[in-house]
Amino acid sequence: MEEDIANRTIRFVLLGASGDLAHSKILPALYDLHREGQLPGHFTLVAVSRSAELEALRQSYRDSVAHYARQPPGADWEGFAAGIFHIRLDLAEADDYRRLKTALAEMDRQARGPVERIFYLATPPHLFGAVADHLGREGLAEDQAMTRLVVEKPMGHDLESFRTINNLMRRHFAEESIYRIDHFLGKETVQNLLAFRFANPMFEPIWNRQYIEQVTITVAESEGIGGRGAYYERAGALRDMVQNHLLQLLCLIAMEPPVTYTAGDLRHKKEEVLNALRPIPEGGVDAVAVRGQYGSGVVEGEPVPAYRQEPAVSAESSVETFAALKLYIDNWRWQGVPFVLRTGKRLGRRVTELVVRFRPVPHCTFPPRAGLNAQPAQLIIGIQPEEEILLRFAAKEPGTPFRLQPARMRFNYREAFNKESPAAYETLLTEVMRGEPMHFMHAEQVAAAWRFLTPVLKAWESPPEDPFPNYTPGSWGPKAAKGLLEEEWQPTCGCDAAGLGRGSEPKQGE
Ligand code: BG6
Repeated sequence: MEEDIANRTIRFVLLGASGDLAHSKILPALYDLHREGQLPGHFTLVAVSRSAELEALRQSYRDSVAHYARQPPGADWEGFAAGIFHIRLDLAEADDYRRLKTALAEMDRQARGPVERIFYLATPPHLFGAVADHLGREGLAEDQAMTRLVVEKPMGHDLESFRTINNLMRRHFAEESIYRIDHFLGKETVQNLLAFRFANPMFEPIWNRQYIEQVTITVAESEGIGGRGAYYERAGALRDMVQNHLLQLLCLIAMEPPVTYTAGDLRHKKEEVLNALRPIPEGGVDAVAVRGQYGSGVVEGEPVPAYRQEPAVSAESSVETFAALKLYIDNWRWQGVPFVLRTGKRLGRRVTELVVRFRPVPHCTFPPRAGLNAQPAQLIIGIQPEEEILLRFAAKEPGTPFRLQPARMRFNYREAFNKESPAAYETLLTEVMRGEPMHFMHAEQVAAAWRFLTPVLKAWESPPEDPFPNYTPGSWGPKAAKGLLEEEWQPTCGCDAAGLGRGSEPKQGE
């Protein structure tokens, strides 16, 4: 462990400690960090919730660690659990925050050195503003240098609600003390996008409209919405995925080179991308955006319900479980290059990838019988489950006559480094504890993303013309989405050994 963190005393105050996020992501990540010796030397977790009992909470954390962590609870679990404390608090009760303040002050009296506090709001997102305000009113944000506030997406449900929440947070917490999590930014393969682009000399010179024809960003999931119906009915794919994860990926693939690898430089380069997005005209949403909702079907031999049959979902819901957008970045580098963003639940398989398609060669040197003359080269960046980078290009087939065949070069993360990647939350929690804001969203980015999507959000308030449900589980989404692309819809990573065949993947809308 680095000296820096080994000597620090960190009080990790987890509000919403009995909830899903705490159990499925935060505790497993903290325990994995503990096992790897990556937690600060003096670390305590103060679990704040309305009803739990300490021992019951420790047990339910142990169960979720057994289920979700990279490593099951071992002999050191007891030591880790001994650092978990519980404070009862009703998020809506101002007096309870006073008790929280007293309890924390009491704990701090026993600490040897200065104590840093991290308030992690694993609460329902609509409470972020109010909880931050309560904390601030009790003076819990006074020592800005020693206090951090962590919130998750979604932040608001549109630009205005985001501003309201953000203003409440900013009343007491400085922008530098607020860590807005988009967990995609903690993924190794996502962080590697910057290394790939800016630590190598050969990609940047061709990374522009002159050589690149189209960029496609796909985040496909095979799962449905599971037990999250109540949340998803208010969110939909656009708010749940596009506003944050997909637009952040877009920033990383399209941004200008930052001068330094610092939060300030990265932030400004990302904002330039978001601010250069060509506005979608209010009447023109259908030309650039496609929405869909899954019906019932059979996946891997098992019947699965339609979205409208999922728990806590209205039988007439017109919430989208699929969204695709074609957008343009109006700047010198990207003028005229389409970026297609697409995401959906219950699609053919789980795959997140970025595909950069290069323009065809300007002149065909080889005769038509050589084949593949105009086949464009592609660079495919697999984020998950395949953590890889593929370059597809044309090669000469051995022998005569002269024939071209598609070929590929492949870099695989696991094979190259022979070690397991940490979970995104491990990385992000470590960065919060160290006070490194590089991979978090600045308020301006969140606002710019909401601003850009406003016309689509508005248009999609009305039920679709193409009646829902409009795609079958296991397919690649509604037929209309294909119109946004000039090529086959299916994602490409994890294909057959040559990386070329598409196997027997289902077709669009099937
Ligand atoms: C979350 C969304 O932010 O990201 C979920 O709310 C989605 O709907 C999830 O399933 C995907 O994350 P990952 O890391 O599993 O790809």
